[in-house]
Amino acid sequence: MTLDEIRSWLQENDPQKLETLWKQADTLRRKNVGNVVFLRGLVEISNICRRNCLYCGIRAANSKPDRYRMSTSEILDTAKLAKNLGYGTLVIQSGEDLTCQADEMADAIVQIKRETGLAVTLSLGERSEADYKAWFEAGANRYLLRFETSNEKLFHAIHPPAPGEQARNRVEILKSLRKIGYEIGSGVMAGIPGQTWEDLARDVAMFAELDLDMIGCGPFLPHPDTPLGGVGSQESGVGMADQVILDEHLPFKVIALARLVCPKANIPTTTAIATFDPKHGRLLGLSRGANVVMPNLTPTKYRKMYEIYPNKAAGSELPEETHERAVRQIEELGRTLGKGPGTSPRFLQKAVY
Ligand code: 5AD
Repeated sequence: MTLDEIRSWLQENDPQKLETLWKQADTLRRKNVGNVVFLRGLVEISNICRRNCLYCGIRAANSKPDRYRMSTSEILDTAKLAKNLGYGTLVIQSGEDLTCQADEMADAIVQIKRETGLAVTLSLGERSEADYKAWFEAGANRYLLRFETSNEKLFHAIHPPAPGEQARNRVEILKSLRKIGYEIGSGVMAGIPGQTWEDLARDVAMFAELDLDMIGCGPFLPHPDTPLGGVGSQESGVGMADQVILDEHLPFKVIALARLVCPKANIPTTTAIATFDPKHGRLLGLSRGANVVMPNLTPTKYRKMYEIYPNKAAGSELPEETHERAVRQIEELGRTLGKGPGTSPRFLQKAVY
């Protein structure tokens, strides 16, 4: 697909034409990754963050959330819960928390692998190459690092480096993660202030260029305790005529286009989408290209503290309730639950060569 084609899909408003986009994405999903939906158990192990991303509720400068970091034994308990609920993968996510030390994390990964055999996906932000290698050697299989926007100027404007640190290029980090041996995942937010239609089209083209194994995208959801949290922050697209406007279709257009450019990728219908459209978001995502759901298994007492955006879906549920709802929704759609690790067919095929 050319950049112009991607852009015109992003800006398409004709409901009949959009139906053809949803259909194409759904067909490609079925052909490439089948009717199986994989569940990934998500555990948010720390909301401590050294960064000050302008949109994120757990940014260092936000003094409102109490900060927590789960112990290795709490993480292991969550892994065992995921295993008992039938999951094949644990996704370990956190703020950019350097108090989460590399060797401690490596030790947790070793224990999770030994005691549960789950596939381990890490989403711990920008770390040193040595840390990434140590975690891979400890047994981690996948790494998620959203590049957030392919517009470098916009990226740097809303992701200032931590004090005393150099800005890094996430696309380069993703390439080095792949070299280490990880399955790599990335993604963007749709509708961030300052993002043009051209930028978002380039984001989708970047998914293809990186040939991602996993693609996670969601709408930008303003958090009131952040610099981009003001009412109408859409308009703070500095008066740009070309500012992306977030409407009810946009998050699904991004999912559908991701499926079109990376047919074999694992694509979740994200929590941000479920928060944006609590009634239908998750199901619409699964009907328009997605094949993965990531139920939040974080212990209930920590959930409220991991508020990257407001009213996050499943905010105060028990992990078991979150799980059961996901299973019901998948069954309602007539899709089957995945078993095992659910490695991306893209990764498996590449591994054959
Ligand atoms: N709205 C939507 N998505 C957000 N994220 C962080 N803050 C917000 C927000 N306010 C996304 C980022 C990050 C992922 C974990 O959550 O894309 O990579």
